[in-house]
Amino acid sequence: MHIKARWSSPGELLIYGSYLARARAGDEAMARLREAVSGLDVGVLVNNAGVAKPCAVYLHEADVEAWVRMLRVNLWALTEVTAAVLPGMVERGRGAVVNIGSGSTEAIPSFPLYSVYAASKRYVAQFSRSLYVEYRSKGIDVQCQAPLFVETKMTTGVAGSRKRRGILSSLMMPTSEAYARAAARWIGHGPLCMPNLGHRLQWCLCNAVPDRLLDVHRLRENLRQRALFQRLRSARVNGGLPARKQS
Ligand SMILES: NC(=O)c1ccc[n+]([C@@H]2O[C@H](COP(=O)([O-])OP(=O)(O)OC[C@H]3O[C@@H](n4cnc5c(N)ncnc54)[C@H](OP(=O)(O)O)[C@@H]3O)[C@@H](O)[C@H]2O)c1
Repeated sequence: MHIKARWSSPGELLIYGSYLARARAGDEAMARLREAVSGLDVGVLVNNAGVAKPCAVYLHEADVEAWVRMLRVNLWALTEVTAAVLPGMVERGRGAVVNIGSGSTEAIPSFPLYSVYAASKRYVAQFSRSLYVEYRSKGIDVQCQAPLFVETKMTTGVAGSRKRRGILSSLMMPTSEAYARAAARWIGHGPLCMPNLGHRLQWCLCNAVPDRLLDVHRLRENLRQRALFQRLRSARVNGGLPARKQS
C-alpha cells in the first residue's frame, strides 16, 4: 500500500525484473523489452533476478560460458531493464528502482570462490549509487538493497533445515517472506540499504573485525561449501540424488 501510494497511481503497474531477464539474445531481447514496457506505466521496478552458480568454485574450475551466463542476468539484464523503464518514469516525474545487490560486497572485504558473483554485485551497488544521484531530482528513487544470507533456493546447502533453526539463526538468515516485508519498508530510503535487522547487526560486527580475519574466515567457510557441493555432485553422478535444474 505504501509503495503504491508513493510511487504509483492505481493504474500503474509494478513489475519484477526477473520476468524480463528471461530473454537471451542481446539486441533482439532489448527490442522486445522496449516494446513490452512502452505501453506500461511502471511505478516500481525490482531487479531481483540473480544467479550465484557456479557456486563455491575457484575461477578456473568453471567454463567461461558459465560466468557469461551469470553476468548476463546479474549485470546485463538489470542494466537493460532499468534503461527501458526510466524514460516513462522521467516523463511522469516519479518512480522507484530497486536493485538487489549483496551484502557480500558491503559487509565483508572479499567473497572468495564467488569472485564473479561478488564483482557483479559490486557493479549493482555502484550503478545504483550513480543513478540515485542522476535521477533523484527527477523524482525517481534508485536504491541498491544488499542482503546477507536469506533462506531461498540460492542458499540451499548454506542454510540448515528450518525446523532445526532457532530465533538467532532466523534473525541472521531470515525467510524470503520476512526479508521481503523489511525490504518493502526501505524503498525510498537512500541509495544503499540492508533492510533486515539481523543483517545490519552482522554488518556492524564485521566492521569491528580486521579484514584479514574476515578473509580467512570467509575462505574457510566457502571451501567447506565447495566440499559439500562436490560431494552432492558426485552423489548425483553416481545416481544417489535426482539431477537439479541449472539456473
Ligand atoms: N539468498 C541470499 O542469501 C541472497 C543474498 C544476497 C543477495 N541475493 C540476491 O537476491 C536476489 C534473489 O535471489 P534468491 O536468493 O531469491 O535466489 P533464487 O531463489 O535462486 O532466485 C533467483 C531469482 O532469479 C531469477 N532468475 C535466475 N536466472 C534467471 C534468468 N536467466 N532469467 C530470468 N530470471 C532468472 C529466478 O527466476 P525463476 O525462479 O523463475 O528461475 C528467481 O526469481 C538475487 O539477485 C541474489 O543475487 C540473495
